[in-house]
Amino acid sequence: MKIDILLGLQWGDEGKGKIVDALSPDYDIIARFQGGPNAGHSIVFNNVKYILHLIPSGIFREGKLNLVGNGVVLDPAVFKQEVNSLGIPLEEIKKRVIISKRAHLILPGHRILDAASEHVKGSSKIGSTLKGIGPAYTDKAARNGIRVGDIVRKDFKELYKRVLEMHLRTAAGLGFEFNLSDYEEGWFEGVELLREFKLINSEYFLNEMIRNNKKILAEGAQGTMLDIDFGTYPYVTSSNTISAGAFTGLGVSPARAGEVFGIFKAYCTRVGSGPFPTELTDETGEEIRKRGVEFGATTGRPRRCGWLDLPALKYAIMINGVTRLFMTKADVLSGLGSVRVCTSYKINGEESEEVPFEYNVCKTEPVYREFPGWQEDISNIKKYDDLPETLKKYVEFIEKETGVPVTLISVGSDREQTVYKS
Ligand code: GDP
Ligand code: IMO
Ligand code: MG
Repeated sequence: MKIDILLGLQWGDEGKGKIVDALSPDYDIIARFQGGPNAGHSIVFNNVKYILHLIPSGIFREGKLNLVGNGVVLDPAVFKQEVNSLGIPLEEIKKRVIISKRAHLILPGHRILDAASEHVKGSSKIGSTLKGIGPAYTDKAARNGIRVGDIVRKDFKELYKRVLEMHLRTAAGLGFEFNLSDYEEGWFEGVELLREFKLINSEYFLNEMIRNNKKILAEGAQGTMLDIDFGTYPYVTSSNTISAGAFTGLGVSPARAGEVFGIFKAYCTRVGSGPFPTELTDETGEEIRKRGVEFGATTGRPRRCGWLDLPALKYAIMINGVTRLFMTKADVLSGLGSVRVCTSYKINGEESEEVPFEYNVCKTEPVYREFPGWQEDISNIKKYDDLPETLKKYVEFIEKETGVPVTLISVGSDREQTVYKS
C-alpha cells in the first residue's frame, strides 16, 4: 500500500483542513508531517466551525487514527486547549490521536525568542504567527531540542531548565523584555495531558500499517511558497512543507509515495510579509477578502488577496510532483464580472514563466489573462457538469496549462460542499 500526500500549493490556507476531513472516510490514518500550531485548519459540519492547529484533520471521523508525526513541533499548551475545544470526550480523543516520540516540543522560550526575533527585525519582520516555530526548529537543528518522548524522563524538569536558561540569555541579549510566567501559562499542564496520550515510535508503526495495507493520508501544513527551501525565503516558515517533507516528517520511504494531492484556491492569499506578485490592494482585493472571509484562522490577521498565480502554481506542482489538483473557494469569485490569472511575470522588462530567485528584491510584474466570471451561486452544486460553463472553462484552462487534472472542486466551507470530477 502507498501513502497519499495532501498539501498546499500557495501560501497556506488553501482549505487543507476541509479537504482532509472530506476525504478521511477513505483512509485509516491521517498523519501530520511538519509545522506546528502556526497552522489553522478549519473544518465545518452541522453549521459548526472547528479550527485545528496540531491535531490532524481526521479527528472528527470515528474509527480513524490521527498521527502527529516526528516532523511536527508540538506546543503542549496549545495541544491541551485544542483537545478541550473539540467537543469530543477525552477518552475518545485518546483513542484517535497518537504522537511520535520524536516530535519536538515548542517550549515557552521558543515563543519568547520568536517575539524577540520579530522585534529586532522591525519593519523587515517575517510576520510570524509568534507560535515559536522558527526557534523550535532552530533548536532541533542545533541539537538543543527537547522531544515528546523526553517528557517521561525523570530529569525532564532539569532538561527544561537548562534549555530555558539558554533562551533567557539569548532574549536578554536581544534586549527583549517579557514576563516569563505569561509564556509558561498552561505549558506544564499541557505536558501532564500529553503524558496520558499514546506516545509511540511512529516510524515503526506507520511502516507496519503500510505493510498491513492500511490507507494513510499525510496532511501538510502551510504551503509550498512558505517552504524553507523553495518558498519566498526568508519570508517562509521553518519546515519543509513540500511532499519531500512527508518522508522525513513521518519516516517512510519515497518509494511508498502514492498520489500527491495539491490544493489551491481559485485565487491567492497570503498572511504575513513577503512577495506576492498578484496581490490586489484595490477594492477587488477587499471584495475577495470580504466574500472569502479571508482572515487568519490562527492569528485573525486579514489575509492579503490577489489573482491566481500560474507560474507559482506550476512551480509548486513541479517541486511536489502533484498528481491531482484540488481547487477550493471557486464560490468566492461568483458574481465578479471577470476573473484574472497571471500567466507569466515581467521582470526587468523580460517575460518569464519561472519563479525567480530574486523574488524578494526584483519587481515581478504579473502578465494577466482575463476570463469571463461566473455569476451563479454555485455553493449547492454537487455535480461537475452542473457548474457554470465559464467556471468549467477556467478549470480546463488550468488543467491545460499545468498538465494535471483538477479532480475536486470545493464550493463552500462545509464538508458536504465538495464536487468530485473524474
Ligand atoms: P487550511 O489552513 O489550508 O486548512 O485553510 P484555512 O482553514 O486556514 O482557511 C480556509 C478557509 O476557507 C476556512 O475558513 C474554510 O472554512 C474556508 N473554506 C474552505 N474551502 C472553502 C470553499 O470551497 N469555499 C468557501 N467559501 N470557503 C472555504
Ligand atoms: P496553514 O497550515 C498561512 C506564515 C506566517 C508568516 C510565515 C512564518 O493554516 O495553511 P511562522 O509562524 O511559521 O514562523 O510564520 O508563515 N504562516 C502561515 N500562513 N497559513 C499557515 O498555515 C501558516 N503558517 C505560517 O503568517 O508569514
Ligand atoms: Mg490555515
